[in-house]
Amino acid sequence: MHPAIYWEVEETVSKLRQLSPQGFVPRVVVTLGTGLGQLAESIDRLIDVSYQELEGFAHSTVASHAGRLYLGYWHGLPLALLSGRWHLYEGYNAQQITFPVRVLAQWGGEIFIFTNAAGGLIEDMQAGQVMLITDHINLTGHNPLIGANVEAWGPRFPDMSRVYDAQLLSVARQVAEKAGIIYRQGVYAGLVGPNLETPAETRMLQIMGASAVGMSTVLEVIAARHHGGSVLGLSAITNVNKPDNMQPTSMEQVLQGADLARRDMQAILNGVLAELAAN
Ligand code: HPA
Repeated sequence: MHPAIYWEVEETVSKLRQLSPQGFVPRVVVTLGTGLGQLAESIDRLIDVSYQELEGFAHSTVASHAGRLYLGYWHGLPLALLSGRWHLYEGYNAQQITFPVRVLAQWGGEIFIFTNAAGGLIEDMQAGQVMLITDHINLTGHNPLIGANVEAWGPRFPDMSRVYDAQLLSVARQVAEKAGIIYRQGVYAGLVGPNLETPAETRMLQIMGASAVGMSTVLEVIAARHHGGSVLGLSAITNVNKPDNMQPTSMEQVLQGADLARRDMQAILNGVLAELAAN
Protein backbone atom coordinates (compact mmCIF):
# COMPACT_ATOMS: atom_id res chain seq x y z
CA MET A 1 0.00 0.00 0.00
CA HIS A 2 1.30 3.42 -0.92
CA PRO A 3 1.39 6.25 1.65
CA ALA A 4 -0.76 9.37 1.15
CA ILE A 5 2.14 11.40 -0.31
CA TYR A 6 2.44 8.93 -3.18
CA TRP A 7 -1.18 9.57 -4.19
CA GLU A 8 -0.80 13.33 -3.78
CA VAL A 9 2.09 13.22 -6.24
CA GLU A 10 0.11 11.02 -8.66
CA GLU A 11 -2.84 13.41 -8.51
CA THR A 12 -0.68 16.38 -9.51
CA VAL A 13 0.92 14.30 -12.27
CA SER A 14 -2.60 13.58 -13.65
CA LYS A 15 -3.48 17.24 -13.49
CA LEU A 16 -0.34 18.18 -15.43
CA ARG A 17 -1.06 15.48 -18.02
CA GLN A 18 -4.49 17.03 -18.53
CA LEU A 19 -3.04 20.52 -18.87
CA SER A 20 -0.35 19.59 -21.37
CA PRO A 21 -0.54 18.44 -25.00
CA GLN A 22 -1.33 14.79 -25.66
CA GLY A 23 1.69 12.62 -25.10
CA PHE A 24 3.93 15.32 -23.60
CA VAL A 25 6.34 13.81 -21.07
CA PRO A 26 9.14 16.04 -19.76
CA ARG A 27 12.56 14.46 -20.06
CA VAL A 28 14.59 17.29 -18.59
CA VAL A 29 13.62 19.30 -15.52
CA VAL A 30 15.32 22.63 -14.85
CA THR A 31 14.94 24.47 -11.54
CA LEU A 32 15.73 28.17 -11.65
CA GLY A 33 17.12 29.71 -8.49
CA THR A 34 17.35 33.17 -6.98
CA GLY A 35 17.49 35.93 -9.57
CA LEU A 36 17.68 33.44 -12.45
CA GLY A 37 13.98 33.36 -13.34
CA GLN A 38 14.63 35.29 -16.57
CA LEU A 39 16.20 32.15 -18.01
CA ALA A 40 12.63 30.93 -18.57
CA GLU A 41 12.19 33.52 -21.31
CA SER A 42 14.39 31.60 -23.71
CA ILE A 43 12.06 28.62 -23.76
CA ASP A 44 9.34 28.24 -26.41
CA ARG A 45 6.52 27.99 -24.00
CA LEU A 46 3.79 25.53 -24.61
CA ILE A 47 2.08 25.99 -21.34
CA ASP A 48 2.73 28.07 -18.32
CA VAL A 49 1.14 26.97 -15.05
CA SER A 50 1.08 28.97 -11.83
CA TYR A 51 2.11 26.89 -8.82
CA GLN A 52 -1.16 28.03 -7.27
CA GLU A 53 -3.07 25.80 -9.69
CA LEU A 54 -1.16 22.74 -8.61
CA GLU A 55 -2.15 20.77 -5.55
CA GLY A 56 0.87 20.18 -3.32
CA PHE A 57 2.89 23.02 -4.82
CA ALA A 58 3.44 25.51 -2.03
CA HIS A 59 3.76 29.22 -2.69
CA SER A 60 7.14 30.82 -2.61
CA THR A 61 7.18 33.68 -0.13
CA VAL A 62 10.35 35.21 -1.59
CA ALA A 63 9.93 37.98 -4.15
CA SER A 64 12.90 36.78 -6.23
CA HIS A 65 11.07 33.50 -7.00
CA ALA A 66 8.26 33.52 -9.53
CA GLY A 67 6.36 30.33 -8.76
CA ARG A 68 5.56 29.14 -12.28
CA LEU A 69 6.02 25.88 -14.11
CA TYR A 70 6.75 26.05 -17.84
CA LEU A 71 6.25 22.98 -19.99
CA GLY A 72 7.36 22.82 -23.57
CA TYR A 73 9.70 21.59 -26.23
CA TRP A 74 13.12 23.20 -26.42
CA HIS A 75 14.41 22.34 -29.90
CA GLY A 76 12.35 19.18 -29.69
CA LEU A 77 13.49 18.35 -26.16
CA PRO A 78 10.54 17.93 -23.79
CA LEU A 79 11.36 20.24 -20.92
CA ALA A 80 9.84 21.28 -17.60
CA LEU A 81 11.10 24.48 -16.09
CA LEU A 82 10.43 25.26 -12.46
CA SER A 83 10.79 28.99 -11.96
CA GLY A 84 10.84 29.46 -8.23
CA ARG A 85 11.43 27.03 -5.42
CA TRP A 86 10.73 26.85 -1.70
CA HIS A 87 13.19 26.87 1.11
CA LEU A 88 13.36 25.46 4.61
CA TYR A 89 13.75 28.99 5.97
CA GLU A 90 10.30 29.90 4.65
CA GLY A 91 8.86 27.29 6.99
CA TYR A 92 8.37 24.52 4.43
CA ASN A 93 9.46 21.01 5.24
CA ALA A 94 11.63 18.69 3.19
CA GLN A 95 8.57 16.86 1.77
CA GLN A 96 7.04 20.10 0.50
CA ILE A 97 10.31 21.35 -0.93
CA THR A 98 10.86 18.17 -2.93
CA PHE A 99 7.24 17.76 -4.07
CA PRO A 100 7.82 19.24 -7.57
CA VAL A 101 10.82 16.96 -8.09
CA ARG A 102 8.72 13.95 -7.07
CA VAL A 103 5.92 14.99 -9.45
CA LEU A 104 8.21 15.58 -12.42
CA ALA A 105 10.17 12.38 -11.78
CA GLN A 106 6.97 10.33 -11.57
CA TRP A 107 5.74 11.95 -14.77
CA GLY A 108 8.89 10.82 -16.56
CA GLY A 109 11.62 13.39 -15.88
CA GLU A 110 15.05 11.76 -16.17
CA ILE A 111 17.52 14.61 -16.05
CA PHE A 112 17.38 17.26 -13.32
CA ILE A 113 19.29 20.51 -13.63
CA PHE A 114 19.32 22.70 -10.53
CA THR A 115 20.52 26.28 -10.48
CA ASN A 116 21.01 28.41 -7.40
CA ALA A 117 22.72 31.48 -6.02
CA ALA A 118 25.57 30.76 -3.67
CA GLY A 119 28.29 32.42 -1.65
CA GLY A 120 31.79 31.54 -2.83
CA LEU A 121 34.25 30.15 -0.29
CA ILE A 122 37.37 30.01 -2.44
CA GLU A 123 39.66 33.02 -2.09
CA ASP A 124 39.98 33.85 -5.79
CA MET A 125 36.36 33.32 -6.75
CA GLN A 126 34.60 36.31 -8.30
CA ALA A 127 30.97 37.35 -7.99
CA GLY A 128 29.28 36.50 -11.28
CA GLN A 129 31.15 33.26 -11.90
CA VAL A 130 29.31 29.99 -12.43
CA MET A 131 30.33 26.98 -10.38
CA LEU A 132 29.61 23.48 -11.65
CA ILE A 133 28.63 21.47 -8.57
CA THR A 134 30.71 18.31 -8.32
CA ASP A 135 29.38 17.18 -4.93
CA HIS A 136 27.44 18.49 -1.96
CA ILE A 137 27.29 18.50 1.83
CA ASN A 138 23.80 18.43 3.29
CA LEU A 139 24.12 20.55 6.43
CA THR A 140 20.42 21.33 6.70
CA GLY A 141 19.69 18.65 9.29
CA HIS A 142 16.68 17.77 7.13
CA ASN A 143 16.09 14.98 4.66
CA PRO A 144 13.18 14.33 2.27
CA LEU A 145 13.63 10.58 2.74
CA ILE A 146 12.69 10.58 6.43
CA GLY A 147 9.58 8.52 7.06
CA ALA A 148 8.19 5.41 5.40
CA ASN A 149 10.05 4.82 2.15
CA VAL A 150 7.95 4.95 -1.00
CA GLU A 151 9.33 1.87 -2.73
CA ALA A 152 7.74 2.94 -6.04
CA TRP A 153 9.98 6.03 -5.97
CA GLY A 154 13.29 4.51 -4.95
CA PRO A 155 15.26 2.50 -2.39
CA ARG A 156 15.28 2.99 1.38
CA PHE A 157 19.02 3.69 1.39
CA PRO A 158 19.92 5.46 -1.87
CA ASP A 159 23.57 5.41 -2.82
CA MET A 160 25.27 8.82 -2.84
CA SER A 161 28.67 7.87 -4.21
CA ARG A 162 27.96 9.57 -7.55
CA VAL A 163 25.36 12.25 -7.08
CA TYR A 164 26.29 14.75 -9.80
CA ASP A 165 26.32 12.97 -13.14
CA ALA A 166 29.82 12.70 -14.63
CA GLN A 167 28.55 12.84 -18.21
CA LEU A 168 26.43 15.94 -17.63
CA LEU A 169 29.37 17.59 -15.87
CA SER A 170 31.61 16.74 -18.79
CA VAL A 171 29.11 18.25 -21.24
CA ALA A 172 28.81 21.38 -19.07
CA ARG A 173 32.61 21.75 -18.96
CA GLN A 174 32.91 21.37 -22.73
CA VAL A 175 30.14 23.90 -23.34
CA ALA A 176 31.76 26.40 -20.97
CA GLU A 177 35.21 25.93 -22.44
CA LYS A 178 33.96 26.27 -26.00
CA ALA A 179 32.24 29.53 -25.06
CA GLY A 180 35.38 30.82 -23.32
CA ILE A 181 33.61 30.98 -19.97
CA ILE A 182 35.78 31.06 -16.87
CA TYR A 183 33.88 28.65 -14.66
CA ARG A 184 34.56 27.07 -11.30
CA GLN A 185 33.93 23.60 -9.95
CA GLY A 186 33.36 22.50 -6.42
CA VAL A 187 31.38 21.27 -3.48
CA TYR A 188 28.12 23.01 -2.55
CA ALA A 189 27.24 23.13 1.15
CA GLY A 190 23.49 23.41 1.77
CA LEU A 191 22.44 25.22 4.95
CA VAL A 192 19.02 26.15 6.31
CA GLY A 193 19.50 29.94 6.42
CA PRO A 194 17.99 32.47 6.23
CA ASN A 195 20.82 34.32 7.94
CA LEU A 196 24.14 34.41 6.17
CA GLU A 197 27.18 32.81 7.76
CA THR A 198 29.44 34.11 10.51
CA PRO A 199 33.21 34.22 9.87
CA ALA A 200 33.61 31.13 12.10
CA GLU A 201 30.93 29.24 10.15
CA THR A 202 32.57 30.29 6.89
CA ARG A 203 35.93 28.97 8.12
CA MET A 204 34.26 25.71 9.19
CA LEU A 205 32.73 25.29 5.72
CA GLN A 206 36.11 25.85 4.07
CA ILE A 207 37.76 23.29 6.37
CA MET A 208 34.98 20.83 5.52
CA GLY A 209 35.88 21.11 1.87
CA ALA A 210 33.00 23.26 0.65
CA SER A 211 33.61 25.68 -2.24
CA ALA A 212 30.25 27.44 -2.08
CA VAL A 213 27.38 27.81 0.36
CA GLY A 214 23.66 28.27 -0.16
CA MET A 215 20.21 27.60 1.22
CA SER A 216 18.71 25.24 -1.33
CA THR A 217 19.32 22.43 -3.79
CA VAL A 218 20.62 19.60 -1.58
CA LEU A 219 17.18 18.26 -0.58
CA GLU A 220 15.89 18.43 -4.16
CA VAL A 221 19.00 16.65 -5.39
CA ILE A 222 18.52 13.88 -2.81
CA ALA A 223 14.92 13.40 -4.01
CA ALA A 224 15.97 13.40 -7.68
CA ARG A 225 18.63 10.76 -6.96
CA HIS A 226 16.08 8.74 -4.97
CA HIS A 227 14.11 8.44 -8.22
CA GLY A 228 17.28 7.52 -10.10
CA GLY A 229 17.42 10.82 -11.98
CA SER A 230 20.66 12.22 -13.42
CA VAL A 231 21.62 15.49 -11.77
CA LEU A 232 23.51 18.60 -12.85
CA GLY A 233 23.95 21.52 -10.44
CA LEU A 234 24.99 25.05 -11.35
CA SER A 235 25.69 27.76 -8.78
CA ALA A 236 25.83 31.44 -9.57
CA ILE A 237 28.50 32.80 -7.24
CA THR A 238 26.88 36.02 -6.07
CA ASN A 239 29.35 37.03 -3.34
CA VAL A 240 32.62 35.71 -1.97
CA ASN A 241 32.99 35.11 1.77
CA LYS A 242 36.42 35.48 3.35
CA PRO A 243 36.48 34.56 7.04
CA ASP A 244 39.45 36.79 7.83
CA ASN A 245 37.94 39.77 6.07
CA MET A 246 34.21 39.14 6.15
CA GLN A 247 32.16 41.76 4.33
CA PRO A 248 28.43 42.25 4.84
CA THR A 249 26.28 40.62 2.15
CA SER A 250 22.88 42.05 1.24
CA MET A 251 20.05 40.55 -0.78
CA GLU A 252 20.64 43.32 -3.36
CA GLN A 253 24.22 42.12 -3.71
CA VAL A 254 23.05 38.51 -4.17
CA LEU A 255 20.61 39.59 -6.89
CA GLN A 256 23.29 41.71 -8.55
CA GLY A 257 25.69 38.77 -8.47
CA ALA A 258 23.03 36.49 -9.98
CA ASP A 259 22.52 39.12 -12.67
CA LEU A 260 26.24 39.14 -13.43
CA ALA A 261 26.26 35.34 -13.71
CA ARG A 262 23.15 35.14 -15.86
CA ARG A 263 24.87 35.29 -19.24
CA ASP A 264 27.30 32.48 -18.47
CA MET A 265 24.60 30.48 -16.69
CA GLN A 266 22.31 30.86 -19.71
CA ALA A 267 25.11 29.89 -22.13
CA ILE A 268 25.99 26.76 -20.14
CA LEU A 269 22.34 25.81 -19.68
CA ASN A 270 21.51 26.34 -23.37
CA GLY A 271 24.60 24.42 -24.45
CA VAL A 272 23.80 21.46 -22.21
CA LEU A 273 20.16 21.44 -23.36
CA ALA A 274 21.27 21.61 -27.01
CA GLU A 275 23.51 18.60 -26.42
CA LEU A 276 20.64 16.72 -24.75
CA ALA A 277 18.24 17.69 -27.57
CA ALA A 278 20.69 16.26 -30.12
CA ASN A 279 20.98 12.92 -28.34
N1 HPA B 1 25.55 32.27 2.07
C1 HPA B 1 24.45 31.49 1.98
N2 HPA B 1 23.63 31.53 0.95
C2 HPA B 1 23.90 32.38 -0.06
C3 HPA B 1 25.03 33.21 -0.02
C4 HPA B 1 25.90 33.16 1.10
O1 HPA B 1 26.91 33.85 1.19
N3 HPA B 1 25.02 33.94 -1.17
C5 HPA B 1 23.92 33.54 -1.87
N4 HPA B 1 23.25 32.60 -1.19
